[in-house]
Formats: sequence, C-alpha cells, structure tokens
Amino acid sequence: MIVLKQVSKSYNGKIKAVDQIDLTVENGEIFGFLGPNGAGKTTTIKMMTGILTPDQGEVLVNGYDIVKEPLAAKRSFGFVPDDPNIFPRLKAVEYLRFIGDIYQVPPAERTERIGSLTARFGLADALADRIQSYSHGMRQKLMIVGALLHNPDVWILDEPMTGLDPRSSFVLKEMMREHADSDKTVFFSTHVLDVAEKVCDRVAIIDRGRILFCGTIEGMREHVRSNSSLETMFLELVGDAGNGEAQA
Ligand SMILES: Nc1ncnc2c1ncn2[C@@H]1O[C@H](COP(=O)(O)OP(=O)(O)O)[C@@H](O)[C@H]1O
Ligand SMILES: [Mg+2]
Repeated sequence: MIVLKQVSKSYNGKIKAVDQIDLTVENGEIFGFLGPNGAGKTTTIKMMTGILTPDQGEVLVNGYDIVKEPLAAKRSFGFVPDDPNIFPRLKAVEYLRFIGDIYQVPPAERTERIGSLTARFGLADALADRIQSYSHGMRQKLMIVGALLHNPDVWILDEPMTGLDPRSSFVLKEMMREHADSDKTVFFSTHVLDVAEKVCDRVAIIDRGRILFCGTIEGMREHVRSNSSLETMFLELVGDAGNGEAQA
C-alpha cells in the first residue's frame, strides 16, 4: 500500500511541480499514474522512493514513512527509474549480484531469482555481457529484474514499458497482474494510454502537478459523462495542457 498526503514539491522555489497531492494505492491493485510530459509524475515517484524530500506532506510505503523510516520503507518496495542507464561497465550478472547484496537476498535465493526472472524476460543468455553492450530495452528489463530481485511487496515503476518489445511488455503486464492478484501493490506511471486502459484497476490523472481525476476507468466515464475511450477522456480532462513541459 502507498499513501500520499498533501504532498508538494517545487524546484528552485519556482512553480510547484507537484501541488498538494493526495493518493492512496491499495494492496491488490494495479494503479496507473497518467499525465502529459512534465505533469509531475517522475517528481511524485522520486518523493515516494526517497530520492527527493517533499516540501510538504507525507509519504507512506507499506506503512513506513519514507522520510522518517527510509530503510524499512525502501526494503518494502522495488523501484524502476525512468532512466535505465546505470553502471555501464558492470556485467549484468555483477549488477544483479550487487543489487542482491544491497537488499540482503540470501545467495541461493538470489541465484534462483536471477535465473527465473532473466529467463522470463529472455535475458538469461546476456547475463555475462557488460551493460554498455545492452540495447535500451535490455537495460530496461535488467532494471526490472533488479527491482524485483528482493521480492518486494510494492512495485513502483516509472514508465516501465518504454523501449520494451511486445513480448517483454506482455510479460511485464502479466507479472504486474500476478503481483496485484497476490494482494500486493503495483504503481506505475505511463503516458501510453492503451496500456493503462488494459491493465489498470484504477488510474490517477495528473497535470501541472495536480490530480485531475482518481478512480476506475468506468468511474472516469461517469465523471466526464461519456462512453469514450481513455484517450478521449484524457484529452478532455487535460485540455490544452498537453505540453505542460513547454509551459512550465
Ligand atoms: N531537476 C529539475 N529541476 C528543475 N525542474 C524540474 C526538474 N525535474 C523536473 N522539473 C520540472 O518539474 C515539472 C515536472 O516534471 P516531471 O516530474 O519530470 O514530469 P513527468 O514525469 O510527468 O514528465 C516539469 O515542469 C519539469 O520541467
Ligand atoms: Mg517522467
């Protein structure tokens, strides 16, 4: 479970990138965080994961306050950042062992999970290669494997489908569903609305740092009083603000 209470953040004291957000992500659901470029998705996720400290408000992950109990909170989630370009000179297997050590995964379990997760994503044969030789999609998959290595209850994924081929994207969606169905939490951001419409139990739409809607897609149809696709409703809600980055 993830709870955000009245969370705000501005960069350099300027416009609020995130403006008094309240969100609750329940166990057992896949929650999609949607919004145009520059809406504040990554900033919110960085506060959830303890990379940025909120100017105001409180974030609880699995009941732990990310500011006051960072280690307990961090043990309980796995995080896939939006940029998978890290440790280029490590071999993939070295990276995964390193992550396993940080999260104190016992060696036998570590080997077993590296084997099963990389097999599922078709990375098993590339484990001995350096990350710098990996394609963007392969790096993305490696980040996902690393994030799930310690079998966290809460998954926090920033644009996880970016660069994934159709098969890997299918595998990830399947894994997200299995995880939520075992009463755990999946939170991910995306601007790919087709994916969100298919996999999310609930979504929130953020624009210019504020939540415009939070609920089921069916609930959104009632909210905007139409029977439209998520894309149409999204465009209606976000209005002309589709290029928030340019305006910010
Ligand atoms: N490090 C930073 N310094 C200054 N402004 C930033 C920084 N990171 C993001 N921003 C600004 O904050 C806003 C929200 O960005 P971000 O959270 O990355 O949006 P999203 O992930 O939804 O595309 C944007 O206006 C962006 O330009
Ligand atoms: Mg982002």
